[in-house]
Amino acid sequence: MIGRLNHVAIAVPDLTAAAAKYRDLLGATVHHPHDLPEHGVTVVFVDLDNTKLELMTPLGDTSPIAKFLADHPTGGMHHICFEVPDLSHAAHTLVKAGARILGDGKPKTGAHGLPVLFLHPKDFDGTLIELEEVKPELQPA
Ligand code: CO
Repeated sequence: MIGRLNHVAIAVPDLTAAAAKYRDLLGATVHHPHDLPEHGVTVVFVDLDNTKLELMTPLGDTSPIAKFLADHPTGGMHHICFEVPDLSHAAHTLVKAGARILGDGKPKTGAHGLPVLFLHPKDFDGTLIELEEVKPELQPA
C-alpha cells in the first residue's frame, strides 16, 4: 500500500533558526516558509537527495502541534509521511482493519496541495503517520 517516504516532519520552536541551521550548517536546500492555516502550522521544506524534511512551528492559538512543543520544548520528530497512490482506498482498508484516522476521518489538503490523512500514533507504535495521495504518474522517475 505505502510507497515512498515523502518527508519526515520535525516540530521546532524557532522556524527561522531551524531553517538557517539546515541551510548554513548542514548545507541543504531550504525553501521559504509557508503558512498552512488548515493545519495550524507554518512549514519550511528542506530538500534532500532521497526525501524531504518538513520543519514545522505552530500557527495560531489552536495549533495541533502546540501541545507537542509544550511536551518537547526543544522540538522533536513529529510525523513521517508515506505516499499512497489512492488515499480513499488506503483509508477504507485501514479503517476496516481497526486503525483510526485523526480528525473527522476525511482527507485534508496537505502541504503540497495533495490530499492527506493522519493515522492515530497509538495504532502505529507511537508514530504519527501521514499518508499523502501521490498519483503514480506524478512521481518522479
Ligand atoms: Co507532513
